[in-house]
Amino acid sequence: EMKDNTVIVVFGASGDLAKKKTFPALFGLFRQGFLPTDVKIVGYARTKMDKADFHSRAVSYIKNPDNDAGISASIDKFKDTLTYVDGSYDDEAAFDVLNAHLSDIEAKYTSKGLNRMFYFALPPNVFVTVAKNIKKHVYTETGVNRIIVEKPFGKDLDSARELLNSLKQYWSEEETYRIDHYLGKEMVKNILVLRFANVAMSGVWDKNHISNVQITFKEPFGTEGRGGYFDSFGIIRDVLQNHLLQVLSILTMERPVSFSAEDIRDEKVKVLRSIPPITQEDTLLGQYVGADGKPGYLEDDTVPRGSVCPTFAATTLWINNPRWEGVPFILKAGKALNEAKVEVRVQFKDVTQGIFKDITRNELIIRIQPSEAVYLKMNTKTPGLQTRAMATEMDLTYNRRFTDAKIPEAYEALILDALQGDHSNFVRHDELDVAWKIFTPILHWIDGQNGTRPQPAPYPYGSRGPPELNAFVERYGYQRT
Ligand code: BG6
Repeated sequence: EMKDNTVIVVFGASGDLAKKKTFPALFGLFRQGFLPTDVKIVGYARTKMDKADFHSRAVSYIKNPDNDAGISASIDKFKDTLTYVDGSYDDEAAFDVLNAHLSDIEAKYTSKGLNRMFYFALPPNVFVTVAKNIKKHVYTETGVNRIIVEKPFGKDLDSARELLNSLKQYWSEEETYRIDHYLGKEMVKNILVLRFANVAMSGVWDKNHISNVQITFKEPFGTEGRGGYFDSFGIIRDVLQNHLLQVLSILTMERPVSFSAEDIRDEKVKVLRSIPPITQEDTLLGQYVGADGKPGYLEDDTVPRGSVCPTFAATTLWINNPRWEGVPFILKAGKALNEAKVEVRVQFKDVTQGIFKDITRNELIIRIQPSEAVYLKMNTKTPGLQTRAMATEMDLTYNRRFTDAKIPEAYEALILDALQGDHSNFVRHDELDVAWKIFTPILHWIDGQNGTRPQPAPYPYGSRGPPELNAFVERYGYQRT
């Protein structure tokens, strides 16, 4: 298996992604015994550092708030796996140095250490250069090579195609692992099981039983300090076009022939191809303004003055196939809202009227975070002597039901998948292409390519979103239960 004889190289080792996600995830896998104890991890970045500097930096990325002795001991062992090479991303000689460093490490492994995994924790403007330089100078002929890359993959259909085509010159689809970290989340992975391992679910999973579906992403903080990046992307590129669309495709795809990566991704692509581009009429945009001492988006120093970039969007997608025709799928995402929550809410149709009055609709909620849960809102007889119906819940909240389970971090799950050569939870090139087809026209409209840029509706920092939101979801048949 690849994971047992692989050197992992993290490019951009001193950057934000490496700090927040890559190193903590590598450490998490190491600590839980999913990486061999003699694994070697090499950091590469422009910053000049010696090994000791790199060690203390990498260790500072790993959280151990309670100074747990077991974690501290693992951190010490983890340190021994780490080395560092500095160099710029376009300096070919530096890549030769990196290659020599890897060969040295591999020589010490004797028969092991033949495979190389390259993790791009890099800004997109150097993706192609680094991809090319690795291929030319650091590619091993005696083992397997893999790259892990992550969004942004372009800004619209054309730029995404250009990027993909450039990378394709050096790296095959088989060697490429495109991360959408939502695919590594436990509850997103659970959707396939819920749907296809339960007749009680699969039997009602269609337009005859479902009225509308909402996929909601809420964050309680703004773009603080990240406004420069965010402003040129906006919430749709940041969250909807990738994370929420991925969830949508898994919720709506037909049953794959098998659980193989290609069978799953074939079905995802097929359902995405049935979705026409989003329209202006089906879109509501918002931008947060200051409230209760919290700064508005435009008060962030990193945001250009007068920006109309949306920090909130709700948009409704339609699937033109026999299972889903006419069912609205509402994707909503926003920064600086009232709470942290990501959930899927499937609202079923009304029961046939007649015997019950004022009965609420069934809803299936899959809470992705925080506090993973699946619950079904249903009606039951009020306990007691009267015969009345009341709304209640069948509740599968993970931290109550699975008290000892450790839910893995998304990046842990995905890095392990990549080491094991499993592409199921990575984005295939054609998936990305069709995702951009769905969103490109609306993004061009928002970017002002057809004239003036649309003005987003203001909403206060810490609120539920623009006041127009309630009317928006009700327009698609959503009933508050
Ligand atoms: C990233 C976005 O892809 O996902 C961020 O760029 C967002 O803006 C993040 O905060 C959310 O990820 P998670 O795992 O915290 O839900």
